[in-house]
Amino acid sequence: MVTASAPGKIILFGEHAVVYGRPAIAAPVSQIRATAVIQPSTTPGVQLIAPDLGLATTLADAPMEDPLAATLRQFQEVANLPVWPDITITVTSQIPIASGLGSGAAITVALLRALARYFDQSQLLHSAHISTLTYEVEKIYHGTPSGIDNTVVAYEQPVYFVRRQPQNLIETFTVARPLHLLVADTGVRSSTRAVVGDVRRQWEAGPRRFEEIFTACGNIATAARQAIEQGEVAELGQLMRYNQQWLQEMTVSSPELDRLVLTAEEAGALGAKLSGAGRGGNMIALVTLETETAVKQALHQAGARQVLATQIACTK
Ligand code: PMV
Repeated sequence: MVTASAPGKIILFGEHAVVYGRPAIAAPVSQIRATAVIQPSTTPGVQLIAPDLGLATTLADAPMEDPLAATLRQFQEVANLPVWPDITITVTSQIPIASGLGSGAAITVALLRALARYFDQSQLLHSAHISTLTYEVEKIYHGTPSGIDNTVVAYEQPVYFVRRQPQNLIETFTVARPLHLLVADTGVRSSTRAVVGDVRRQWEAGPRRFEEIFTACGNIATAARQAIEQGEVAELGQLMRYNQQWLQEMTVSSPELDRLVLTAEEAGALGAKLSGAGRGGNMIALVTLETETAVKQALHQAGARQVLATQIACTK
């Protein structure tokens, strides 16, 4: 039996603008994970079981566009696997689906890692390789993904990311002072593909205005990287506020997100914003050890379904 897992993620700065080539920053959330288990089976074929996705099928019967089946086909091709042995693959996830925490990327990364181990394909275990394969599957979930989700989940490190040709820019950076973040779920599910598609329609209708908005978000992400590297936590909070205003301009916030953002700031957070595609899903709040409990309580009282505390650790 083989087991592998991968973390959830948050986007700290630059969602949506990252699809249009502007810089963005993302970090893993290691305490919530997707897990894939592969074991030999006495039932013929490849059994695919994913209770959180409501899936119990065989590879042969899975729809063409099913992301798990697509992951298996990708793997079969790169691993030169002529035929599948009889196995059962079970995928579970603690990461809420369609909520901006990268559940799709985490499931794919966990599954690819488990497959690479089960079939002794250690050359496929490199983060860069796993990330590239995951990107192909992300296209099924997202339509036009920037590549930041698969990157941060596969590398499991905070990344500064720019989508570009021929190769994306992926940089890790120093975290001078630990960042304490709360991740709060509105409980509203939102399709990344739909929100990204809607932003594209707005960009097509008003390219000049949207290019300006994206550039402003990219500049915020670059300034944020510097603030993180220099340990200027208060400045970072301010940058989160600015980023949230631009996300509101893009119409990707929502009453539930706005409410939690305002609640967090009123309860003492240094800054707060939505994280991921928006229109639901999660928001993040930058807190200190002193304010964490009060902000967490306030978020719960304001209707947050789940509030996770996570840390982006010092790497100096
Ligand atoms: O909602 P999520 O966690 O899948 O994040 C999407 C981030 C976007 O910038 C909106 C899209 C992308 O591909 O980068």
